[in-house]
Parts: sequence; C-alpha cells; structure tokens
Amino acid sequence: MLSPISAKSTDAMSSSDNNPERTLADLGVTRPDQVLSLFAEVRERFDRQVSRPLDHPSWEILRQSWLGRKSGVLTLITEHWLKPAAPDLKRSVGQELNKLKTHLETTLEERRVDVESLADHVASIRDRVDLSLPGVNRPVGSRHLIRQVFQEIEDIFFSIGFSVVEGPEIETPYYNFEALNIPEFHPVRDDMDTFYLELPPSPDKKTAPTQLLLRTHTSPMQIRTMEKQKPPVRVIVPGKVYRRDNPDATHSFAFHQIEGLAVDTDITFCDFTGTIEYFVKQFFGPSVKTRFRPSYFPFTEPSVEFDVSCPFCGGTGASNGSTCSKCKGAAWIELFGAGMVDPAVYGFVNYDAKKVSGFAFGIGIDRLAMLKYGIDDIQVFFQNDVRFLKQFP
Ligand code: DAH
Repeated sequence: MLSPISAKSTDAMSSSDNNPERTLADLGVTRPDQVLSLFAEVRERFDRQVSRPLDHPSWEILRQSWLGRKSGVLTLITEHWLKPAAPDLKRSVGQELNKLKTHLETTLEERRVDVESLADHVASIRDRVDLSLPGVNRPVGSRHLIRQVFQEIEDIFFSIGFSVVEGPEIETPYYNFEALNIPEFHPVRDDMDTFYLELPPSPDKKTAPTQLLLRTHTSPMQIRTMEKQKPPVRVIVPGKVYRRDNPDATHSFAFHQIEGLAVDTDITFCDFTGTIEYFVKQFFGPSVKTRFRPSYFPFTEPSVEFDVSCPFCGGTGASNGSTCSKCKGAAWIELFGAGMVDPAVYGFVNYDAKKVSGFAFGIGIDRLAMLKYGIDDIQVFFQNDVRFLKQFP
C-alpha cells in the first residue's frame, strides 16, 4: 500500500531559516545572492515533499499548503517577503517568486496525473476479472429432430417453388372433413376418431355451439389455402396433428405431418410423380427407387401410396446375410399417401374443376424421421430426454 504523507507532515515550511511568515529583514537577508539561496532552499523543501508517495487526498493537502490562496507558502512569501522587501531586493524576490510559482504549478500538475493513473491502476487491480476462474457453463440447446426434419423437407420443396403456410390446430369439422369430401357418415372418419373440444354452451343456451376438434391431419389447410388464393397454388403445410391413438412404438396421440398441394391449369399425373420422386431422392439419397400403389382417400382421385426402396438394405430385403430388420424383408417401405386432387374438392372452394388440376400429399414426419435416423420408438420424440436430443445437435 502507499504511505502517503500525512496532513501533519505537509506543514510546508518548518525551518525557521526560511520561514515565510517572517520578513526578509527578520531573516537577515539583505543581498540578492541571499535571496537566491533562500528560494533554492524553499524549492528543495517543496521537491522533497512532492516526491513522497501521494494519493489524491494527500496531494490535495500538499497543493493547499503551497498554493492555497489564504495561507499557502506562495501567498505567505508574497505577503512577507515580496511586499515589504527593500527596493533593491524587490526585483530578485519577484523573479524568484515567479520561477517558484511556475515550478510548483507544473510539478504539482505532473504529480496529479501520476496520482490519478496510479489510482486507476489500483482500481483495475482491485476490480480485475480473473479469467482463469471456471465460467458458468450454460448448455446451448439445439433444434428438436422433428424441427430439423421439417426444415430439411421445407428446403427441398422451397427449391422447386413451393412456399410454406401454417394453419390452426383447432379446426371445424367442415374443414377437417366435409370440405375434403368426407361427409358425416363416411366410414373413413372412423380412422380419424379424434378429440372434440368440450365447449361452453352458447350465451342464449338455445343454439348448439359450433363443434371444434383437434385437427386429425394437415389436409384442412388445402381448403383454407384454396379459399384464399386463386390458382396457381404451390404450398406445403408443416404442423402438428392429433388422433385418439393409444401410444406405442409407432403411435402417438400427437404427431406431425407436412401437407403438400399444387393446383394449376395444366398439372398432370407426370408432374405429380416427378415431384414426389424428386423429393424422395433429395431426402433419402439419389440411389433409392420409388413406386406407387393404388390406394384410397376421399379427397384425391386417383389416390396412391408412395413406397421407397428400403434405404437400409439397398432394396434387397436382406442385410448382413439375414432379413432386413427395417423393411422386414419386403425391400420396400411405405412412405405416405398422395393423389390427384378429387374434382369434388374444387367444388368446395369455387375452383372450376374443368379448368384446374393438381396433386396433394400428406407426409408423416415422425415416421420419416424414424426411418432416416434409425429410431425405433416414436415416443422418444415426445419424452424430451436430453440423452436422445443430444444425438441430434
Ligand atoms: N390426410 C391424410 C392422412 O392424414 C394423408 C394424405 C393422403 C394427405 C393423401 C393428402 C393426400 O394430401 O393426397 O391420413
């Protein structure tokens, strides 16, 4: 630590030989050369004091004792040495006094700068951050695998001119079923047995509230999109869907789909299969093969199921000499449903079924992610176990 001069020791002038409270005559100074040595002593005294270690308060005390207006040494010298000086000494006292004043001021200013930078230095040592201390390690999260797969698929469809739209997870039966050509007593509704919302009675308690349900697929967005927009339409719809399924390794009451819809005046079945094939090869790699089989969906005609040659056994049905565990020896894996938009659907959105044509598809994302990343239990997507999540940074 510094040992600054104490207030007591700043008693600037203590020697009786050069005491500025006495006059020159009292001190026996009668010749100019005596004046010079008198001032030299004073200056030496100052130099000694100013070269001691100083902090800001002791610097201020020192300054006051030398330059203070009322009783600083400089004032005392003016009062007791200069003013009453004999005429033949006045000139040299005046000159020496000026020199002393300049010396005091410049030296004190230099010391002030020193003192302050020292204070800064001390503060910087006190406040220093110890960079060698271990920091707080906040783990950085990453996107969930489902999000990543959404992104991958969106990028592929972006590259061929599709855009992304999203829609409500709570739907009316009209959008979820009727407008998709699934009338109330159609048997396919059984497959979609789902969650209806329990709604409070309407304020007048007479009319039944509009029914609402958690959407069972992303297909309602086909209708909502076409209602809003004239052809050409080229959209994909990523989102969450819900069904009253019992959880097991391949079922969950909430899962994810990407709907696709392309409608224009000249879309053919060839455009449809070409688009799907492009997507599948981008997603699984160029060596996979695709095939489609006839199927049935009320909102497409014809309807198909798309299969991909098993990416794990190279479409042979066998791996390492035994039956491929992924495709169970079938060599093909069922991917998703699709088809040409049923003309009946256009009727619900005021499109002219004679002028437009198009295709639609609905991809189960969880299933696709499981296939691509070799995951055998859909439940891991929802359990949020970091040991699982960490594998997909
Ligand atoms: N919505 C269907 C489902 O969830 C999937 C689907 C099949 C969507 C065919 C389509 C389609 O757009 O054309 O089972």
